[in-house]
Amino acid sequence: MRQIIIGVLFILAGFTSCKNESKIETSKTKNKGLITKKAMVVSARVEASEIGTEILKAGGNAFDAMMATEMALAVCYPYAGNLGGGGFLVYRLADGTKGALDYREKAPLGSSKNMYLDSNGEVIKDLSTVGIMSVGVPGTIAGIFEAQKRFGKLDIATILKPVIKLAKHGYIITNKQEERIASYDSIFRAVNEKEILYNNNLKAGETIVNLALAETLQRIADNGRDEFYIGETGKQLVKYLQSKGSIITLEDLAKYEAKWRSPITFQYDDLSITSMSPPSSGGICLNQIMTMIEPFDLKDYGHNTLKTIQVVVEAEKRAYADRSFYLGDPDFIDIPIEALTSTVYLEDRMNNFSFKNPTPVDAISHGKITGYESTETTHYSIVDQYGNAIAVTTTLNGGYGSKLYVDELGFFLNNEMDDFSSKPGEPNYYGLIGAEANSIAPEKRMLSSMTPTIVEKNGDFYMSLGTPGGSTIITSVLQTILNVYEYDMTMQEAVNAPRFHNQWLPDEIRMEPNSFNEKLIQQLEALGYIINQTRTPVIGKVDGILMLDDGSLEGGADKRGDDTAVGF
Ligand code: GLY
Repeated sequence: MRQIIIGVLFILAGFTSCKNESKIETSKTKNKGLITKKAMVVSARVEASEIGTEILKAGGNAFDAMMATEMALAVCYPYAGNLGGGGFLVYRLADGTKGALDYREKAPLGSSKNMYLDSNGEVIKDLSTVGIMSVGVPGTIAGIFEAQKRFGKLDIATILKPVIKLAKHGYIITNKQEERIASYDSIFRAVNEKEILYNNNLKAGETIVNLALAETLQRIADNGRDEFYIGETGKQLVKYLQSKGSIITLEDLAKYEAKWRSPITFQYDDLSITSMSPPSSGGICLNQIMTMIEPFDLKDYGHNTLKTIQVVVEAEKRAYADRSFYLGDPDFIDIPIEALTSTVYLEDRMNNFSFKNPTPVDAISHGKITGYESTETTHYSIVDQYGNAIAVTTTLNGGYGSKLYVDELGFFLNNEMDDFSSKPGEPNYYGLIGAEANSIAPEKRMLSSMTPTIVEKNGDFYMSLGTPGGSTIITSVLQTILNVYEYDMTMQEAVNAPRFHNQWLPDEIRMEPNSFNEKLIQQLEALGYIINQTRTPVIGKVDGILMLDDGSLEGGADKRGDDTAVGF
C-alpha cells in the first residue's frame, strides 16, 4: 500500500513529454505570466496543470479537465486537493451561459446544533477542527461527476488515466511541500495514532507514490460516482470513520448530492462579475464590497495607497459584518440576497465612512474575536479551446483537513464542520463569527468564503480567478480584479501584488509583511487603524486567467506557492 521511492527515479516519462509539448507554443515576457493562444489550466501544482492540459489536448473540454485537474491535485497536493472534501464551481460556457455547482460538504444526519459544546455551553477546544468529529460528508466526487456528466465530452476512464498514472508513478516533493509536511509531522502522528504516508521525513526532490489512492481512483474510473457513495470505497470509508467514532453513516454518503445553484452576478463599471452564491459567502460579499467601493475613484487614488486602502477596508468591514449575521445554507434559511446587495442599502451602509478616521467595529455590529487562520484550500482556473471558462475552488478546510488520513484509500478527510458556527458569537478557526443562520443542523452545508469568480468585460469573457485563504479569499479575489481593471496590471502582476485584508473582526488590517512601505503603515496607524503584519504572512494564493485584447490568454500563477500555468 505504501511506497516511497527516494530520489528522482521515475520522472513520469509521459508527463515530461506532455510538459514540453504544452509549452511549445507559448511565450513569456518579463511582467506577464504564461501566454497561450487557445487554452490554459492554472493550478497549485505543475503536474495538475499539465494533466488538465493533456485532457484538453485529447479533445476534452473545461469540465473534463476539471475532473482531471481536481483529482491530480488530490494526488500531488494533498494539503488541499482532495477526495475527502468539497468545493464550488462557477462556469461560463462559450455561448455566455453562466452557472454554478455546489459540492460543499454536509453535516451528518446525526449532527446537532450544540454538538461542539460542553455541559456548560462552552465550545470544546479542537473538537470541530481536528480529528474525527470535525469531518463533514464529502462532496468532491459528486461534484466533479455532476459537472462532467452535464457538460463533459470524454469518458471517465480517459480522464482519470493520467491521474492514476501520477498516483502510481509518483510526483516530486517541492521545497514548500517538504516544509509543510515536516511542520505537520507530529499532528499527523497524534491524530492518526500511527505513521501515515506523509510521516516519512520527506525531502524536496524525492518522489512519492500513493498506490492506495491509485487503486481508489481506478475503482472510481471503473464504477463511476457511486463507487464513492454506495460502492466498495464508500463502505471502506464508513468502516474507517466509524472505527474512529464518527457519526457519519452509509446513509449520509448515499444521500449526498451536488447541487446546481444560481450564481451571484453583478456589475462593476463595465465589468459583469459572476461568483459563488450561498452556501458560500464569496459572491455576496464580493458584490457588496465592489458596490460599496464603486463610487470612489480608486484609479485616481492609486494602487495600495492610503485612500484606496481606507475605502476598501471600510467596505470589507461592513460586508463581513453582514456575512456573520445573515449568511448560511440557503436550503435551511432565507437569505435576503436582494436587500443585502442593493445599491440603496450599500450606499447607506457606507454613509458613516470618513477618510478622517476608521468606523469603529461596534458601530457596524457586535462580536468577539480571538482566532486566526492559515492558508489552505486550493483554486484552479481553466479556459478551454472551445471558449468555455471555469473557476473552481476546493478544500479540506484546514491544511490536510482534519489530519485524519485513510490509509486504505489514500486520502485525507476534511475538517469542514468548523465552518459552521458552533456557538453564536464565537469565532471559528478563521476568526469568523457566525450567528443562527450558520448553526449546525443535519444535512446542512456550512458557510464558506470560497469565491471562484468569472469576470466579463463588455459581455465577453475577461477573467477567471480564485484563491485559497479562508476568510481572506474574498478580499484577495477583490484586489486581483481591481489590480487588473483599475491599475492596468498584467494577470501575473495582479496576482503577485502585495495584499491586505480586513474582516470586521478582529478589528485590524492584516498586511503581508515586508510588502507595504513604513510611511503608509504609520499613516494608517495615525488614523487609528490597527495593523497586523505578523499573523498572516501569505494572504491568498490567487490563480487566474485573463483574456488579452488579441484573444490570447495570460495566466497568473501565484508566486507565493508552487502554482503553475500550462496551456497551448
Ligand atoms: N473552508 C474554507 C471555506 O470554505 O471558506
